[in-house]
Amino acid sequence: MEEQTFSRPFHHPRPGAPLSCDGVSLESLARKFGTPLYVYSARQIADRLRMFQKSFASREHLVCYAVKANSALAILKLLAGLGAGFDIVSGGELERVLAAAPEAVGRVVFSGVGKTAAEIDRALKAGILQFNVESEAELALLDLRAKKLKKKARFALRVNPDVFADTHPYISTGLREHKFGIDIRRALTIYKDAADSRWLEAHGVSVHIGSQIRSAAPFGAAIGRVSKLVQQLKREGITLKAVDAGGGLGIDYHGGSFDAMEKACEYAEALQNALGDFDGRLLIEPGRFIVAQAGALLARVLYVKRNGKKTFVIADAAMNDLIRPALYQAHHEIVPVRPRAGKARIVDVVGPVCESGDFFARDRKLMRVEPEDLVALLDAGAYGMAQSSNYNSRPRPAEVLVEGTKARLIRRRETMADLLAPEMV
Ligand code: LLP
Repeated sequence: MEEQTFSRPFHHPRPGAPLSCDGVSLESLARKFGTPLYVYSARQIADRLRMFQKSFASREHLVCYAVKANSALAILKLLAGLGAGFDIVSGGELERVLAAAPEAVGRVVFSGVGKTAAEIDRALKAGILQFNVESEAELALLDLRAKKLKKKARFALRVNPDVFADTHPYISTGLREHKFGIDIRRALTIYKDAADSRWLEAHGVSVHIGSQIRSAAPFGAAIGRVSKLVQQLKREGITLKAVDAGGGLGIDYHGGSFDAMEKACEYAEALQNALGDFDGRLLIEPGRFIVAQAGALLARVLYVKRNGKKTFVIADAAMNDLIRPALYQAHHEIVPVRPRAGKARIVDVVGPVCESGDFFARDRKLMRVEPEDLVALLDAGAYGMAQSSNYNSRPRPAEVLVEGTKARLIRRRETMADLLAPEMV
């Protein structure tokens, strides 16, 4: 099958026809499953994974999908079936991988600045590929737990390369002032000390400089620094088997002429050049690039109201369902599902939550919409459902996976009974 190189699986099959996700009409999905509803294209998720696999085909590599971006079990299973590994950051994410694709546990890397002893134990017993260790204290704990369980722990130091990546400050991680990683200048000594332990195996080195990074250059710069460290270690008799370049490759939330395959190739080239003659395995941890554009949040317009000069389109989805605009001033394209004739208007698209921060768009030019109309918030497949909450006691949306001309429910809508279950009066 021809891959979808261009941005999105959401399209109008004919001019004026309602919006579809691949071969499935969003109107039919809203009728069947209600709104707000997350809709994902299985085909695009698979395509995006394959873009990385193709771009790195010339060397030994493993794409460890960052579970945090979208941790739906059905998506994890789909990716595992295509050979992906996983980047996890909690015991909870490990349980998700074990539930969806236990056979992939040997392809799991465990990142995160605050792993607990219980999480480390579970991961050691499960037999994950590599712990990405973020401090000396964590390495000492890993040594202790490995000894206790008599399981050798493969580790990588997550180094902080002190590289600037141009992105939102909340999702930039590669500078010394950030909480992430170990100062790259200290790494050599730590690897040397760890060589004395029977229970620690220096398996790799890892780096992650941030998220939604649009240019390949900072990735190359970070890996360039990591490569120097790898060579130094080799001279000291420590040969690493893996370099983990982290995740972070960005997408174009504004649409336009974004060519995903071209981006993946550019990224691969920057990493390959910076790796020099390293002949071990390259790991990467992309999240957003794989799932963001495969997903949309489908919402219904409840009201259209005017306050003074402003027009507000009030949708049935809210910041608890998709927090990115409120938290990062993120832009998501909003498309009416069934286009109406008439002039576009400048509107705010907001949700019902009692906060002024509950908006999806401000002063946005939007084609005319009326109450009961459906709108799709695009590029919501990454960090959408994964960052949702029950704020305002709102049950979380259902999720649907489109597979060609079929769609199936992969998570049912929460009920109030689900929300009340853990509480006692
Ligand atoms: N690896 C590590 C160690 C990470 O911390 C992250 C993301 C990734 C991989 C995946 O990065 P990606 O390829 O998805 O950029 N909630 C924010 C993004 C937070 C990213 C956190 N770490 C957002 O909605 O933009």
